[in-house]
Amino acid sequence: MIQNLSAGYINVPVPKDMDIKSEINKLRKEKNAVILAHYYQTGDLQDIADFVGDSLALAQWAAKTKADIIVLCGVHFMGETAKIICPGKKVLVPDLNAGCSLADSCPAEEFTAFVKKYPDHTVISYVNTTAAVKAVTDVVVTSTNAKQIVDSFPADAKIIFGPDRNLGNYINSITGRNMILWDGACHVHELFSLEKILALKKEYPEAEVITHPECKQPIIQVSDFVGSTAALLKYTITSDKKQFIVATESGVIHEMKKKSPQKKFIPAPPNDSTCACNECSFMRLNTMEKLYNCLKYELPEIIVDEEIQKKAIRPIRKMLELSEKLGL
Ligand code: 13P
Ligand code: SF4
Repeated sequence: MIQNLSAGYINVPVPKDMDIKSEINKLRKEKNAVILAHYYQTGDLQDIADFVGDSLALAQWAAKTKADIIVLCGVHFMGETAKIICPGKKVLVPDLNAGCSLADSCPAEEFTAFVKKYPDHTVISYVNTTAAVKAVTDVVVTSTNAKQIVDSFPADAKIIFGPDRNLGNYINSITGRNMILWDGACHVHELFSLEKILALKKEYPEAEVITHPECKQPIIQVSDFVGSTAALLKYTITSDKKQFIVATESGVIHEMKKKSPQKKFIPAPPNDSTCACNECSFMRLNTMEKLYNCLKYELPEIIVDEEIQKKAIRPIRKMLELSEKLGL
């Protein structure tokens, strides 16, 4: 039976009495598939993955895997990055609808026109972009390596940074640069409420606020530590503190609790709902059932235009090489 992929995923019911974990394990072995998951996935997907990591780690694992199939439990740009790195492999995502508001805030045609206005500038793009944006980029960065990669350019280098204005502003502030910024943002990280975080700080005076650099400046200013998901996780493991207010997508708390079960993690709340945490609706589209179907039917598959792939691999390769040199 073959599915109708107009839904963006395989819409075939999974038998309720099936042991889904052991079936996924069987399929990945049979097909020599590797399952990579981002920290923003639900706990069950993180637990079944071969590797869980941030955007940089996912790209690094994709670059070194010997598997024939990569299943990327994350969002579309993460699957696309893996496909650009491994054009000969089959790259699958459980649900093709798992997009990214930040990548959407940077349409390739508009970004290309923007870049053309500054012909003497180096173009640095965050990995949260489409393949077509990467194709007009000089070097890709993630939140783990953005500072170090920007620092690797001469102090007077003229740089365009896109698409996240919050990350760009943050990197400008910690490197003393004046990079020209594209005006994009992530709807999840823009939503955190300063008032609610300040109220939580009062309620938990011992807690530290730890924040992803995609958040707005007022949130960053009240934070004790700012970093990528991997950096935030590492910080909670090594810090003597016992309580953390976590200002990023709440999925990362799953791994934080696993690594430090004795510590308390309080999700920072958004400002527009009664919900106590902030989830990325795109990331949450992936489920165990969709992962099982995706492995079984080897769909949906990420396809990247060959010409775009050839151009987009260069700035990604540069990022991987620089990261290796920098020990990241
Ligand atoms: P990381 O670089 O921490 O994986 O961030 C990715 C992301 O999508 C943040 O919203
Ligand atoms: Fe994109 Fe924001 Fe979701 Fe990250 S959290 S995948 S930047 S929409």
